[in-house]
Amino acid sequence: MTSSCHTERSRSASEEKQNNMLDITKIRKDFPILSRTVNGKPLVYFDNGATAHKPQSVIDAISHYYSYQNSNIHRGVHTLSREITIAYEEARKTIQLHLNVKQASEIIFTRGTTESINLVAHCFGNLAITEGDEIIITQMEHHSNIVPWQLLCEEKKAILKYIPINQAGELLLEELPKLITSKTKLVALTHISNTLGTINPVKDMIKTIRSLSKAAVLIDGAQAVPHLKPDVQDLDCDFYVFSGHKLFGPTGVGVLYAKEEWLNKFGPYQTGGGTIKTVTLKKTEFADAPLKFEAGTPHIEGGIGLAAAIDYITQLGFENIQKHEDDLLQYTTKQLQAIENLVIYGNAKNKTSVISFNVGSIHPFDIGTLLDKYGVAIRSGHHCTQPLWQFYNIPGTIRASFAFYNTFEEVDIFIEALKKSIRLLS
Ligand SMILES: Cc1ncc(COP(=O)(O)O)c(C=O)c1O
Repeated sequence: MTSSCHTERSRSASEEKQNNMLDITKIRKDFPILSRTVNGKPLVYFDNGATAHKPQSVIDAISHYYSYQNSNIHRGVHTLSREITIAYEEARKTIQLHLNVKQASEIIFTRGTTESINLVAHCFGNLAITEGDEIIITQMEHHSNIVPWQLLCEEKKAILKYIPINQAGELLLEELPKLITSKTKLVALTHISNTLGTINPVKDMIKTIRSLSKAAVLIDGAQAVPHLKPDVQDLDCDFYVFSGHKLFGPTGVGVLYAKEEWLNKFGPYQTGGGTIKTVTLKKTEFADAPLKFEAGTPHIEGGIGLAAAIDYITQLGFENIQKHEDDLLQYTTKQLQAIENLVIYGNAKNKTSVISFNVGSIHPFDIGTLLDKYGVAIRSGHHCTQPLWQFYNIPGTIRASFAFYNTFEEVDIFIEALKKSIRLLS
């Protein structure tokens, strides 16, 4: 997130240790999967934007739940049920504190970012959107933060507007005030672009929105939470959403932070067991948040595992994580820039450790397939941001995305494998 100078040569593990507050060699031992091989080669995992690996503490928390705590929450008076209810609610509290949320009831467990956005689109749409209203998103959103708004606008005959980007992959911020009108009801923005790595100045954007309208603001934090600690009160957003699995936690669990005033006004999303205060054969009275929005038996071990992931990443320190990831970003970018015909998409001034690129006319899938032979896992394709690639007029890219456990030696292996792949495919 800041830039610094780098040597061209590979760095040894001890140098990495010296240059950073993080002991990467030690940290890597916390992630069992990092010691496996792929196609006979040590795994080099640069697909953290898709999902991140889980430390042993998260695996242990999930295993402990099934081994010793398995029971349902909020339902039983027996010891196991009471114990796990407390553990689940403590997990909610961990997330509350991590995001600096006023009260735990403003944290809703969902299946992930996508479900959190769908929940808001459904409830906010029913409550606040009528014909002619306007919703603003950006040209760099993930499909999960486009499609629900498109469908809502279609259903309500509302208008969806987009903040455009420049060639570097930065939002044209001067367009935002021009897009806001008295009809603007909601603005949904990605905090960090999953394909370009751009870190959007969401705090300043929210200030602009607040100064010009009463629109609600949703921040898609799916790609931000592995790299920074959001403070939702400081941001002053109405909604903040993310997935557990990109934050080194389990799949199938995610978070919706919503300001209490919205949760009090929203009708339920899904209904059934867990969401109610009383039910008669004629009528249902719903519980308060968060239960009103958590229908059915939840992903109990998911919530507990996510809290364990937050505990893990907190003890590493986000400043240390950012420093190491920035170093990896600069080091890799420099080496990629030296490769003939290689074009990097996304050169924002404020950027996190995600690099999207293409090499000449070689198809990203061909490079991805060959890199896999060398044990290197990267992403190839459209990365669920097709409108972004329509802007650049390409079908997709190769994407390398780093986490704090990646090393400079891994970058060297990746660059060598990439060069060999290019030679084979040219
Ligand atoms: C910015 C962004 N938003 C939303 C999503 C959807 O996340 P999930 O599939 O975990 O719901 C992703 C996933 O890659 C993402 O990167």
